[in-house]
Amino acid sequence: MTEGEQVRQVAGLQRIPSICQVPPEVPPTVGAAEFREAMCLMGAAVNVVTTSGDAGRTGFTATAVCSVSDDPAAILFCVNGRSSSLPILVDNGVACINTLRAHQTDIADMFAGRSKVSGSERFALGSWTDLANGCPALDDGLIAFECRITEMKAVSTHVVVFGAVTGVRHGSLGAALVYQNRTYKTV
Ligand SMILES: Cc1cc2nc3c(=O)[nH]c(=O)nc-3n(C[C@H](O)[C@H](O)[C@H](O)COP(=O)(O)O)c2cc1C
Repeated sequence: MTEGEQVRQVAGLQRIPSICQVPPEVPPTVGAAEFREAMCLMGAAVNVVTTSGDAGRTGFTATAVCSVSDDPAAILFCVNGRSSSLPILVDNGVACINTLRAHQTDIADMFAGRSKVSGSERFALGSWTDLANGCPALDDGLIAFECRITEMKAVSTHVVVFGAVTGVRHGSLGAALVYQNRTYKTV
């Protein structure tokens, strides 16, 4: 058996082509500062991830959001392991990913903690309506993905959260807010 086959067998990934395999050992990487400088040039949509349930109601701004699959519909977002939102997300098991419009920089800043407002008090800004899963959706957002959290994987400083998309709420078409080179821009 080749080394690659062994890795796939141990990891239980025999059905995935070898090109997708990443050995479990992390190779030497570029430094954190160099990585951050490079990543900041990769523009990304600005979203507010919300959650609500027995553990409480909160939300945070996130650009680390990505489509995973369309059938079944699945999405992922990454949350800092030190975020006060993480334990609330874990306990509630549900989330809503709200993609912001071009002009909603004040909401992005609020949910990024830049106004020093935390937890449920952040929802004082904007108009929010609870979805079927209880999570707040921004009434005039671009799009909202209602999710049930299916899996979480800790990777170094962050936790990758996978969600099954149980509903989509469309706003009217319009320009989106993106974050690139540490500045808000629009597309
Ligand atoms: C444009 C932008 C994008 C961000 N993207 C993320 C992200 O993808 N994941 C994350 O954990 N934090 C991200 N942050 C930082 C969080 O929004 C911030 O740390 C969080 O709101 C802190 O509050 P909390 O501890 O209550 O979650 C981002 C901040 C900004 C301004």
